[in-house]
Amino acid sequence: LSREQPYRTAYHFQPPKNWMNDPNGPMYYKGVYHLFYQFNPYGALWGNISWAHSISYDLVDWVHLEPAINPSDPFDINGCWSGSTTFLPGGKPAILYTGIDLKNRQVQNLAVPKNVSDPLLREWVKSPHNPLLTPIDDIDPQNFRDPTTAWQGPDRVWRVIVGSKINGLGMAILYRSRDFVEWIRSENPLHSSTKTGMWECPDFYPVSVNNTNGEEKFSKHVLKASFHNQDHYILGNYVPMTDKFEVDTDFLDEGFDMRYDYGNFYASKTFYDSGKKRRILWAWVTESDGESDDIEKGWSGLQSIPRSVLLSGTRQQLIQWPIKEIEKLRTNKVSFHDKELNDGFIFEVSGITASQADVEVSFDLPNLDEAESLDPNWVDPQLLCSQKGASGRGRVGPFGLLVLASKDLTEQTAVFFLIFRRHDNYVVLMCSDQSRSSLREGLGKTIYGAFVSMDHRERKISLRSLIDHSIVESFGADGRSCITARVYPKLAIHSESRLYVFNNGTLSVRISSLNAWSMKRAQIFPMQKRRKQQ
Ligand code: FRU
Repeated sequence: LSREQPYRTAYHFQPPKNWMNDPNGPMYYKGVYHLFYQFNPYGALWGNISWAHSISYDLVDWVHLEPAINPSDPFDINGCWSGSTTFLPGGKPAILYTGIDLKNRQVQNLAVPKNVSDPLLREWVKSPHNPLLTPIDDIDPQNFRDPTTAWQGPDRVWRVIVGSKINGLGMAILYRSRDFVEWIRSENPLHSSTKTGMWECPDFYPVSVNNTNGEEKFSKHVLKASFHNQDHYILGNYVPMTDKFEVDTDFLDEGFDMRYDYGNFYASKTFYDSGKKRRILWAWVTESDGESDDIEKGWSGLQSIPRSVLLSGTRQQLIQWPIKEIEKLRTNKVSFHDKELNDGFIFEVSGITASQADVEVSFDLPNLDEAESLDPNWVDPQLLCSQKGASGRGRVGPFGLLVLASKDLTEQTAVFFLIFRRHDNYVVLMCSDQSRSSLREGLGKTIYGAFVSMDHRERKISLRSLIDHSIVESFGADGRSCITARVYPKLAIHSESRLYVFNNGTLSVRISSLNAWSMKRAQIFPMQKRRKQQ
């Protein structure tokens, strides 16, 4: 089967078959991690959307359960769309989700577990009060969805935000409730923007430099919104008494294009893991092949590796890192130290399963006074990556990894850095170049790029890539910039796939250390049919 399915992943979450999109309502409850997700039970393309449900003890191995919520009632008969979970007083979880009602309007509904003492929370009951929120007044019934996890203010009143677009403004409409059933719309949205269009899947949460769930003096709030096929975030100070969100910079402000990931990463959602005291981020990673390929494969969509999220020391951006647990799959370690990479140098990292691997490399940088100076017009990192390319020559870089590469290198996905000088500082560009990822035509092969914020005193830069058959998730400079890509090599599959390190810059860079591992397969257990109650 795996010969016929070279693009199925070994340690990224995916259902046994069919369509998957957004992660929904992730949570940690009574020692169990829950992931719900947008799912089509009947096919490989989007449709018939229900909330599929899987559980895990470590976020690595999973058991698929039966769907938790299916379209069934007038308030969700045309689809059970995205939403979130909230812990009510006493620790009872509740789901708020968008239903597509009989009239095809988007409404917000509540569901609660049938039996809270079941840690697997297999059965969910829809509230008799549904729908709780309906698109009245100026709210467009087609642009009103994806409720967040609710939070309580100092006044004990619940708050929740819902994604919307009103009069061309993308926004997070704010509602308040005392009992979680009757919700009153706030006069002002939590935040809005003229530049974004509709906000899908908003997320709002505290973050700190340390893992304290924001219970720290210098914490900030993150507001994330999904638009333009990308997940954008801003940071600010939230005043709970007044529900004012004072932003540091705003969405799409010039020079502050902050995204979780500069590649393929959408409709994400975080949750607070009270067990390990950390904030964890999940996202949907779409296919970049065609619909007919998805039908042929019988499936579409992956979830990212869960990432822990922290505020950077500069307090100006987030830092993301794959959860520690994923390292339990590492095996067959290969390492190098102190290897000089001269101009045009390329060498193979052999001894691991390159199609299913975790690679961490740290580079010592040369004297950056000699770096090419950055043209002030070069402001778009993605464009810059497309123009410069991995095979183009530079001074400091391009240097990095060639992943999922064929022996003759006709197929390769290049993940690399290029460094420029600007005044007495330097600018680091991180690229993921899919243009030569497959000999097959008709695939999306967009080149992605991001700037990496670095202090001018730093003399090292790291790169980590999680490679899993058709996905490459890369973390630059310890998680300051991330790029996820989907690729479908024709030759470089399974044992035909190779991994290389390269430097195409004229100045030499040094690998201070490289560690690479084969990754074992995560254990994913099939749907377990519920036994009939005696
Ligand atoms: C985001 C999204 C959400 C919606 C869901 C429907 O990918 O469009 O806004 O709730 O997917 O499946």
